Amino acid sequence: MKTGTEIRDLFLDFFSQKLHQIVKSAPIVVKNDPTLMFTNAGMNQFKDIFLGLKNPESGRVADTQKCLRVSGKHNDLDEVGHDTYHHTMFEMLGNWSFGDYYKKEAIEWAWELLTEVYQLDKDRLYVTVFEGAESDNLPIDQEAKDEWKKWISEDRILLGDKKDNFWEMGKTGPCGPSSEIHIDLRSEEERAKLDGKSLVNQDHPEVVEIWNLVFIQYNRKEDRSLETLPQTHVDTGMGFERLAMALQDKKSTYDTDIFDLTREFLETRTGLVYAEAEEPQRIAMRVVVDHIRAITFTIADGQLPSNTGAGYVIRRILRRASRYAFAYLDIKEPFLNLMVPLLAAQYKGIFEEVYLQMDYIRKIIFQEEQSFLRTLAAGTQLFEQYLKENPSSETVDGAFAFKLYDTYGFPLDLTMLMAREQGKSVDTPSFDVLLKEQKDRSRKATALDAGDWVTVNPSEDLPVFVGYDVLHSETLILSHRTVSTKKKKLFQVVIAETPFYAESGGQVGDKGTLSNGKETLKVIDTQKENELIVHLVDKLPEDPSGEWKAVVNPVFRAKVKSNHTATHLLHAALRNHLGAHVEQRGSLVNDKLLRFDFSHFQKVTDEEMARIEKEVNQKIAAGIDLVEYREMPIDDAKGMGAMALFGEKYGDKVRVIVFDPDYSVELCGGIHVDNTREIRLFKLVSEGSVAAGIRRVEAYTADHAFAYLTEKADKFDRMGALLKNTKDPEKALNDLTNKTKELEKQIQQLSAEKVGRLKDELKNKATALGDIQVIREKVNVGTSDDLKRLSYDLSKVTENTLIVLGAVIKEKPLLSVIMSNDLAEKKAYHAGNMVRELAKEIKGGGGGQPFYATAGGKDVQGLEKAFKKVEELV
Ligand code: SER
Repeated sequence: MKTGTEIRDLFLDFFSQKLHQIVKSAPIVVKNDPTLMFTNAGMNQFKDIFLGLKNPESGRVADTQKCLRVSGKHNDLDEVGHDTYHHTMFEMLGNWSFGDYYKKEAIEWAWELLTEVYQLDKDRLYVTVFEGAESDNLPIDQEAKDEWKKWISEDRILLGDKKDNFWEMGKTGPCGPSSEIHIDLRSEEERAKLDGKSLVNQDHPEVVEIWNLVFIQYNRKEDRSLETLPQTHVDTGMGFERLAMALQDKKSTYDTDIFDLTREFLETRTGLVYAEAEEPQRIAMRVVVDHIRAITFTIADGQLPSNTGAGYVIRRILRRASRYAFAYLDIKEPFLNLMVPLLAAQYKGIFEEVYLQMDYIRKIIFQEEQSFLRTLAAGTQLFEQYLKENPSSETVDGAFAFKLYDTYGFPLDLTMLMAREQGKSVDTPSFDVLLKEQKDRSRKATALDAGDWVTVNPSEDLPVFVGYDVLHSETLILSHRTVSTKKKKLFQVVIAETPFYAESGGQVGDKGTLSNGKETLKVIDTQKENELIVHLVDKLPEDPSGEWKAVVNPVFRAKVKSNHTATHLLHAALRNHLGAHVEQRGSLVNDKLLRFDFSHFQKVTDEEMARIEKEVNQKIAAGIDLVEYREMPIDDAKGMGAMALFGEKYGDKVRVIVFDPDYSVELCGGIHVDNTREIRLFKLVSEGSVAAGIRRVEAYTADHAFAYLTEKADKFDRMGALLKNTKDPEKALNDLTNKTKELEKQIQQLSAEKVGRLKDELKNKATALGDIQVIREKVNVGTSDDLKRLSYDLSKVTENTLIVLGAVIKEKPLLSVIMSNDLAEKKAYHAGNMVRELAKEIKGGGGGQPFYATAGGKDVQGLEKAFKKVEELV
């Protein structure tokens, strides 16, 4: 039986022999594409090639791609665990033709690989072909059908509709008819009873799709119309886990060797045997072994769990795993993180990023688990309180379940489970209504409506970026469009030749102008959409035709590049002083500051900060020239010491930025100074933590750094003037602080003496009231603490006495009620209740213990009335 690793290798070898270039998986987290959060198919990284926006490095490519289907058009999250063949994260084996071969070869090779290399039983295979769709005016895919007829009998070729046989990446983008290959894995007996043909695409767990061959030839536009692409392409995707299930003769992807390590871990941990466990426990085990892969791989590619966007999706997946384990496997401590080393070992050599960041990923997951388990505990408590308050109701209020869910992150199914344990049910319809309302609200808030691009000047050539060398260009507007969000309208322009740097790699987009002599558009920002450089402008041009001059704001650009180069120097200095474990985890470079996040497990001390800052300033003063390589083979760059960042997509050729080959060598697409002396000054201004194991520092350079230091120096001088010692304000401040401490001590002593004297005076002023003695006095003390001290001291030196003291502190009346110890023990009076009554006289409120209580108020005149009232109360 072939192992997963062998199956993967056979695929790649096969296509390598068919002259395909084997490429790396793209990161699972997508950047620069507003239509996609995560890679959901192998073809995502080639989208721009299909659309004609980028030229391929090779016409034939194959790989295994990490995919995640948990959001947008392709979302399997709810099925995962409940069935036996869906996954959040899975590997997609794919081969591509970019304007090279088409249906004939794609079909022939797919058949050859499956039946000759993998030797799958031909009798168990079925294929589907697109039947056409009137709504899009598309005919049946006769060509694919004819090609299949060469290999498989016609009764095994089934026709499928748009839903199953027309593949689209998302709401818009490259698409085309597809042909799927399905396999029937049922036993001979079952197959004899019922033809597998009738089970294709019927959600049968043992009759599943394994490979999808897509023939990309259209672009789906925003208005739903299809635009024919200039070339035809092939995009195939085979589910690696499902292929392994077929080749390893298993009934479920979860039974393959791909999940051996994590499944066995769970079995040991819970004492359960997966094959024999009850269905809810089996579901939970599947959820866990599936989700831990998704979480681990996305964190490895740089996406931390968070409260928004992609980070929130990851957090939810992690919590889903955590709560299934909590509810069904009885695991109530953090444990998911312990599976990271297993995955690291399993994928070493294939997806090296997990192995290389194992400890880091574990720490992040551990922290998330811990905080979610606290949430679960808090939610459980609230739930118990709810039960106490509503003992007789049979159903748990939908609004309460929603509050648990919305405010405390407590999932509905857990609430339902806990309700069931108490013999109650949850009013889910009203929960659903609230949930829908909330979703509608947030959808409305983020809805973005992008119009189609309007072509102004059709061009065969791709737009080019010239901004490494110049700050202006004479150019043509290629296209423009309007994008409306709920709040405002944005206008976007694409030009043939642009000096504007589009935001990426942490560096913000350029600002500037586009003008044609008659009108001027302000460029507010420049962004990348896949490979397209998009200029955000304040209005659309009245007449876009003709020549335009694009000019980048040079002052803005100069500030940004100074900060960018300083970031590289800082990175090198951090590694020098803190160690080689320091790796970049994120950065922001704009015209005001530079921010750098990096892995490091403790605070950077003041002393380390000072050394790092000094080294960067030395490199600035040394006047190191920029050496830039625009197109260096990636292996040469790594040989020079450049580090690739996890979660970044690199081509074969990379740009390398060097400031002294022995100091700073980085893969970088950003803009830099020609010589470090241009930075002039570097000042670190803050250090802190952003997440477990990640520190963040911020710094200023050039004018901004000078302004910062000048402002600090000026403040220091002003302090000197205030302290009347301009030479050494620090010493003056120290002296002042010491003096203040001394005075405070004296004041304390004096007031203690005063309290002592008052105590002696007052203890003799007790008068009889009924059975007891009462002291009622307005006293002259400075603070409420003094009043408290006096009350306590009096209670110790009196007997059978109720003591009611009043004072005016900061112009407000204050009352205190206390009893001598013996009287308190009798419990005949309650100071707290008494003071509440007395407080009414001073227009205030208060409370406290039976033995001692205080109240504050507004009416100083009321104190006498309060003393009088004591008689009534006693
Ligand atoms: N893009 C197609 C899919 O995801 C084939 O790779 O199924």
